[in-house]
Amino acid sequence: QPHTPEIEQPTTSIDDSFHKQPFIIGVAGGAASGKTTVCDLIIEQLRDQRVVLVNQDSFYHTLTPEELTKVHEYNFDHPDAFDTEKLLCVVEKLKQGQAVDIPKYDFKSYKNDVFPLRRVNPSDVIILEGILIFHDPRVRGLMNMKIFVDTDADVRLARRIRRDTAEKGRDIGMVLDQYSKFVKAAFDDFILPTKKYADVIIPRGGDNHVAIDLIVQHIRTKLGQHDLCKIYPNLYVIQSTFQI
Ligand code: ADP
Ligand code: C5P
Repeated sequence: QPHTPEIEQPTTSIDDSFHKQPFIIGVAGGAASGKTTVCDLIIEQLRDQRVVLVNQDSFYHTLTPEELTKVHEYNFDHPDAFDTEKLLCVVEKLKQGQAVDIPKYDFKSYKNDVFPLRRVNPSDVIILEGILIFHDPRVRGLMNMKIFVDTDADVRLARRIRRDTAEKGRDIGMVLDQYSKFVKAAFDDFILPTKKYADVIIPRGGDNHVAIDLIVQHIRTKLGQHDLCKIYPNLYVIQSTFQI
């Protein structure tokens, strides 16, 4: 049935003849490493810009009735748990300056496409965040900057226990079983190997204000170059010649 998506930003009016490419940032790291916290701090500092956050969690596959009966055997930390084709399609559209509807994922019912969908308008900065956001080379290839949030495993587990019991209604036994059965191994096998793609590795996550300030400064520099190019379109030629 038709549903109206929730619109979270004002519609962009691209009245300039110059099409501005958004600056795309990827933020990866283990579960509960502080990715969302880092993204929130970046967004907070960039509040004068149009920034959109796209979570890889929004692209979890909905479980089939059969998978639901054996949910404790399902690996939510494997790359196949995500609909990467849909994620790619959404990011490509945003990159081309089109508005998109992003699915909503419900961690309690294990269902995706929870209505209303999230309507996102094109922005100056797009942040892609998720445990395996660097896994697919096509998604990685869209990013202008890649950040890996590096937090010790014991800290991640402690935060996960607190978060999943408080917010996801799970008991501590379930959280520990899932961690030892899937989460720990998937971190070693799939997440940690993507750290090598990062341009910036942030130890201590959201507590690392120096790293966040530097990242925001870099983004501002890049956005400033866009604005300069809008005023002086020929600067693009200079830019590509000197690879600024
Ligand atoms: P991720 O997005 O990587 O899963 P979050 O940023 O959502 O991580 O953080 C996971 C949990 O840990 C949240 O409950 C959050 O409030 C908490 N948390 C994040 N960073 C810190 C920190 N520096 N100190 C204490 N708790 C934190
Ligand atoms: O937000 P964060 O990056 O921590 O989310 C990823 C984590 O969510 C994964 O470690 C995965 O095990 C967990 N998850 C879950 N239940 C789901 C979907 C994901 O526990 N239904």
